[in-house]
Amino acid sequence: MRRPNPLFFLAVVFLANTVSAQQKKTVPAADQKINTFINSLMSKMTVDEKIGQLNLPAVGFDVTGPVLSEGVDEKIEKGLVGGVFNTFTPQAVEKLQKLVMTKSRLKIPLLFGYDVIHGHKTIFPIPLGLSTSWDLDLIEKSARIAAREASADGLNWTFSPMVDIARDPRWGRIAEGSGEDPYLGSLIGVAMVKGYQTSSLSNKDAILACIKHFALYGAAEAGRDYNTTDMSLIKMYNEYLPPYKAAVDAGAASVMASFNDINGTPATANRWLLTDLLRSNWGFKGFVVSDYTGINELVPHGLGDLKTVSAKALAAGTDMDMVGEGFLTTLKQSLQDKKITMQMIDLACRRMLEAKYKLGLFADPYKYVNEERAKTEILSQQNRFDAKNIAEASMVLLKNDNQVLPLQKKAKIALIGPLADDKRNMIGNWSAAGDWKKAIGVMEGLKNAAPDLDITYAKGANLVDDAAILKQLNANGADIAADEKSADKLISEAVSAANKSDIAVVVLGESALMGGEATSRTNLDLLPNQKALLKAVNATGKPVVLVLMNSRPLTLEWEDANVTAILETWFGGTEAGNAIADILVGNYNPAGKLTSTFPRSVGQIPIYYNHKNTGRPYDGISNEKYKSRYIDSSNDPLYPFGYGLSYTSFQYSAPQLNKTAVKAGQPIQVSVDVQNTGKYDGQEVVQLYIQDIYGSITRPVKELKGFQKIFLKKGESKHVTFTIDEQMLKFFNADLKFAAEPGDFNLFIGSNSRDVKAASFSFGR
Ligand code: BGC
Repeated sequence: MRRPNPLFFLAVVFLANTVSAQQKKTVPAADQKINTFINSLMSKMTVDEKIGQLNLPAVGFDVTGPVLSEGVDEKIEKGLVGGVFNTFTPQAVEKLQKLVMTKSRLKIPLLFGYDVIHGHKTIFPIPLGLSTSWDLDLIEKSARIAAREASADGLNWTFSPMVDIARDPRWGRIAEGSGEDPYLGSLIGVAMVKGYQTSSLSNKDAILACIKHFALYGAAEAGRDYNTTDMSLIKMYNEYLPPYKAAVDAGAASVMASFNDINGTPATANRWLLTDLLRSNWGFKGFVVSDYTGINELVPHGLGDLKTVSAKALAAGTDMDMVGEGFLTTLKQSLQDKKITMQMIDLACRRMLEAKYKLGLFADPYKYVNEERAKTEILSQQNRFDAKNIAEASMVLLKNDNQVLPLQKKAKIALIGPLADDKRNMIGNWSAAGDWKKAIGVMEGLKNAAPDLDITYAKGANLVDDAAILKQLNANGADIAADEKSADKLISEAVSAANKSDIAVVVLGESALMGGEATSRTNLDLLPNQKALLKAVNATGKPVVLVLMNSRPLTLEWEDANVTAILETWFGGTEAGNAIADILVGNYNPAGKLTSTFPRSVGQIPIYYNHKNTGRPYDGISNEKYKSRYIDSSNDPLYPFGYGLSYTSFQYSAPQLNKTAVKAGQPIQVSVDVQNTGKYDGQEVVQLYIQDIYGSITRPVKELKGFQKIFLKKGESKHVTFTIDEQMLKFFNADLKFAAEPGDFNLFIGSNSRDVKAASFSFGR
């Protein structure tokens, strides 16, 4: 096999340098203006003040770790702080910005960063849930609303979007991204950057986006958070890097270096990653911030003491140090010791100042301090209304036997489960500024959506009974109380509620804090106490609708085989309960589609739809031994990527091609007729996959290349057309050259990655 050529990178760097040398000759007027301003400012700055711009302490409450930054006020006065995070509200922001403007020598305004991940105060579904809407307009809208609220609350920088491809649901942070597909993940990343930054950062409600976690954080070994990644360049380029690159191309102003080791060099100190690839190859012009104490963590990674690793991080291309103050405390000495150069400090400082300039902070340091906006724009009725629509779009119907859903609006139902009448968990993990007390739970939602439902409620089980898990969660703020009733008593109450009703709706899953950072799991079943409850309710013989709330794919083989219907709702945000209720009673017909494969068991992980074939692929039917298969499980997932049902049904015609050969500059068109054959109006995500049958390197069995979300009235048909061009067929080959290769291709169109209709075409012949 041909190996990636290291000279490729040198060539790219050389080319990029040549290009930038040429560009220097024709600097656009706007850039000239920024340069003149920043040159003049920097000529007045001391080395300490320049290093100060690279310092990002946390001020205020903190959700991710110990607050290491001390004496921040004094540092601000001395010009030793470039930005702060975890501080918001117009009053708090004004206070710190005023310190700068009244006490510091050069009055360089601060950045105010925060984890606005899926909404600021109006909380949307967790990002994995947003992605299952496959609705780029709604996703952009969620980011836009988040930015409007955050900017009204004093913030000018969010640590989002998280675009890490993740194929391992053991990793709790799969919740924060868009799942396993690089194409969909790229489009979502772009939509979010647009939503946050708008057309110009100078707009009053635009905030800086931050692409994270660069890079490959989602490929942590064994799904254990912060763990090592080791990956071939071909895999990186084709499967993991595209969403970061797309978000860079969309103009994201900042990038966060990831915690993990990448092929021997942790991202924060990885010059190939942060400089050669990100800046020279991709042309990224913004600044790179470390993750939380990411520079300090290079010490246990084994790269040296704090002074050494801080110098390495700066030299690699990390511009700003989040919380750890390695830069602040050691860079000056490293400069004197000639471990780093003044140009390195200057470059990083310039990038920070440019971001502030583009936001318009030099023109108006109080641009984001506006109490009036905070009052009218945060958690407005309109924002909540949009949040409900977005939550509805995110929910995925996994099973619906006998059309048990939607419920009759006057049905007699048993509403069971520790999440059935809960508010605290609705807003999910990483809802940093969100207030769970403002959220709507399922019980309340059902009463709003169908006041005539006859509901008997029973908690049925504690959310978490396992003492060890409980201890960890509660130590980190989960606040999960144990019911005074015994487990048996809780279950027997639930069983009698079910017996009295026509149908049982059982709301189970994870606690919100079982997802997100530092929440890796080795077992993805429902927790044993919840499963015992479900089994007991199921044994009553009543139809059981399982409503799930969870941050990741779970292993649901028993549930799929035994209960009547399953609705995956993730954590739906402030309006979760209203959205779930609207779906349960049929006010909204679900249309979400999975963006991460649901495995049958943890043993199948990593499992993802766009895998390679082997030399001995298994057909899933024969009983041959020497095939790529398990002896104790099927290879197939429980629910494939792209899967999700509707209350109605859709029928697809065979794909029709207008030509069978794509040529350079001459795309072809493929169409299908999709008909709504069921009893409800509904939406369908029509998905296009392509397989490059023979390549110079091995290629995935199929890759998503297009999709359209369409609405069909019952009985209606639509002709859906996709254009296939050369660009779609390109991939990075063994020389990391991005090109399409002549040959034959299969295409598949259908309602998920498994249930498709095929056709074929050729390229370059
Ligand atoms: C997380 C980041 C987050 C940062 C700041 C870190 O622990 O990895 O995603 O943006 O904290 O809160």
